[in-house]
Amino acid sequence: MVITDDIRYVGVNDHQIDLFEGQYIVPNGMAYNSYVILDEKITVMDTVDVHFTDEWLGNIKNVLGDKKPDYLVVQHVEPDHSASISAFVNEYPEAVVVANAKAFEMINNFYRIDFGDKKLVVKDGEEFSTGAHTLKFVFAIMVHWPEVMFTYDSKDKVLFSADAFGKFGALDVDEEWDCEARRYYIGIVGKFGMQVQNVLKKAAELDIQTICPLHGPVLKAPLEHYLAQYNTWSSYGVESEGVMIAYTSVYGNTKKAVEILAKELEDLGCPKVAVNDLAREDMAECVEDAFRYGKIVLATTTYNGSIFPFMREFIEHLTERNFQKKTIGLIENGSWGPMAAKIMKDKLANSKDITWTENNVRILSSVSDENIEQIKALAKELV
Ligand code: FEO
Repeated sequence: MVITDDIRYVGVNDHQIDLFEGQYIVPNGMAYNSYVILDEKITVMDTVDVHFTDEWLGNIKNVLGDKKPDYLVVQHVEPDHSASISAFVNEYPEAVVVANAKAFEMINNFYRIDFGDKKLVVKDGEEFSTGAHTLKFVFAIMVHWPEVMFTYDSKDKVLFSADAFGKFGALDVDEEWDCEARRYYIGIVGKFGMQVQNVLKKAAELDIQTICPLHGPVLKAPLEHYLAQYNTWSSYGVESEGVMIAYTSVYGNTKKAVEILAKELEDLGCPKVAVNDLAREDMAECVEDAFRYGKIVLATTTYNGSIFPFMREFIEHLTERNFQKKTIGLIENGSWGPMAAKIMKDKLANSKDITWTENNVRILSSVSDENIEQIKALAKELV
């Protein structure tokens, strides 16, 4: 695949993987992207997952023919991008591996490779010429690991953005960018909003026409939409107007309350009501929705002196990702000693800028007439 006159795609699609990073379902697979920059000196940008090393080396050979790469730039040491470094070094022993000091430390921890003198340590902001192209390394610490750096090619105005702007899904499956990019971002980088904001500020100083991420499609100008989405996600802003309801239900009574609330919200003109059954839907989709909307309702039962496990897990996913800037309403259910609302509130006590609704709902086993009035009041307050 041709990206620009001098840049070629040499990545691979993975349809074998069951769980990305051991936790995320990827129904449309995953792409591990890698690129070659053709110049006086030839540069390969990152490697791929260990299961695709041969295919990747074959892709490089298809592009280069008899020529050999001079450099391998390693922007990120997570094994989905670094696991083929050893194979590359064996195949091209004259090539120099370019990375920052932290990355070399991590490569050593993972792979114990002795690069000898075929190693170039670069610093933040350092520039590096391959002939007609100048590559500038822009450190992107904690997007998503501490060694991560972006690489800007000022000749072709291309930003190699490591994991940033990536998404779930292989490249041979056609699907919209936003949904799987959002699930990927919130799941994997969601905690590091401040660091993403910092790197977006650095990126704003560059004239970027193309973004080459390590996952997902190459993004071409106009790039405003992708940059705006990243700005919203990393600033914990509201992407979509509406209300997200996350619930668990044991015998259907909490679910009934949620359905009444959803109908009430729709009748009041709420632009979107996103209802998520935490026990049955992909947890990463539920988490993504909680970050997407500004207004959230959490509905669960009191269970073993705490709350239902799926809700406990859900709230942990939120808080560990710096969940903040939300309006939250609560529906609790408990047959003899409801305490779910208090527990949910306590679990979110350290989240910043949370507005709790004045109207909440306390169900004693099944939905009562009084509960219906409480639900209507909550709906009214949210809309
Ligand atoms: Fe795609 Fe953080 O590795």
